[in-house]
Amino acid sequence: MLTTAENQLMTRVGPGTPMGNLLRQYWVPALLSSEIEADGPARKVKLLGEDLVAFRVTSGSVGMVVPHCPHRGASLHFGRNEHEGLTCVYHGWKFDVNGTCVDMPNEPEDSQFKDKVTVASYPCKERNGMIWTYMGLRADPPPLPTFEWNMSPDNPPIIWRNFRACNWMQALEGDIDTSHINYLHRSLNAKDLSTVPGRGMSSAASLQDLARKDGAPRLEIEDMPFGVMYSAMRRMGDGIDYHRIHPFLFPFHTMIGGGLDKNGDLTAFNGKVWVPVDDEHTLVLEYHFRPGKPWTDQERQQMMEARNPWGFEDDRGEPGGGWKSKANAGNQYFWDYEVQREKLYFGVLSNPLQDSAVQESMGAIYDRSNEHLGTADAMIIRVRRRLIEAARALAEDGSIPPGVDEPEVYAIRPVGALLPEGADWLNETMGRRDVLDQIDLAR
Ligand code: FES
Ligand SMILES: [Fe+2]
Repeated sequence: MLTTAENQLMTRVGPGTPMGNLLRQYWVPALLSSEIEADGPARKVKLLGEDLVAFRVTSGSVGMVVPHCPHRGASLHFGRNEHEGLTCVYHGWKFDVNGTCVDMPNEPEDSQFKDKVTVASYPCKERNGMIWTYMGLRADPPPLPTFEWNMSPDNPPIIWRNFRACNWMQALEGDIDTSHINYLHRSLNAKDLSTVPGRGMSSAASLQDLARKDGAPRLEIEDMPFGVMYSAMRRMGDGIDYHRIHPFLFPFHTMIGGGLDKNGDLTAFNGKVWVPVDDEHTLVLEYHFRPGKPWTDQERQQMMEARNPWGFEDDRGEPGGGWKSKANAGNQYFWDYEVQREKLYFGVLSNPLQDSAVQESMGAIYDRSNEHLGTADAMIIRVRRRLIEAARALAEDGSIPPGVDEPEVYAIRPVGALLPEGADWLNETMGRRDVLDQIDLAR
């Protein structure tokens, strides 16, 4: 549990809050590259409680500005996006991607007023299908984190987003909560799990099958340069332990999966970025990456359909528009008790929607002073502690939090491994976790 004050500190992300200041030390994934086109309509964005407008100019650069035109406040999201800038439709003031006013046609030609006006903007960088923005105070922002999935143009990840009507930490905590997969995501028709493969795992599905053999995993937690990592160890019998070794990376990244197939080749893993829209809403950026084996178009399509069989509501241009599931709290996520009785432990279809339903059911910001945490919650406890400590240290003496100036610490993978009982999991799996030497840093 947390005290009410700690809960408040951890969950509030707006400008000037301790956690908001911490998050603003880092680059924030704002949009998929495909969501804005050159000279196309600008898009409303909301990040860390701040309303913004994103646009891509003629030459391809991306701008991220506050919505209100500095003239008399009309929203720039209605702007004309053409000839390297976004023009307010009210009186024609035009701004480039840096927020500089480059035209003020309703003032006399010899007026210098234009040179005195800017619209507040945040720098953007784009890499491998993702647009990142930096909302912090540094004039010279830190480097982008060296994520393998974000630096592999020859093997682009499958990326999609989903929207959660709850606080970012409430959603993130679901991804570092290994024991829930044995319950929330269980299929009642799972094949007989009485035999354990001595080595090798053929797919992500079989990873889950292995995990389901032991519903009370033993957690070991390690502080790491990027944040925190756990091994959830499940007893398989015959002297074999199954370790799921998953990281939390400052300030809002998680990764899951990473097994080996029968041939010893790596299977896919996925990761998520829990991007706070504001205190009560979260955009979950989810990527699926398969090292050394690019996804086929058919696999991409199958994945998208499996992750949300109900599809998304129409994009009405609001922040996160296009990523709100048709299954939501208003229709109980199409929860079906017959399915719950016969087929699924929880009768909502698909893992992300099962997660959404339980996380949103806690309320937008759960009062964590009411919790009763057990040993299964050890990773959640440690991650909260690290985030709160980092936010306090930044506020008290300006301590730079983990990873901000160390992009290379993000070059890791999660690992699923079958190891002999009592093995030193941290050292045994190091070679599979650390991938810095496999990334082309020149990209
Ligand atoms: S309000 Fe934008 S140009 Fe006047
Ligand atoms: Fe889940």
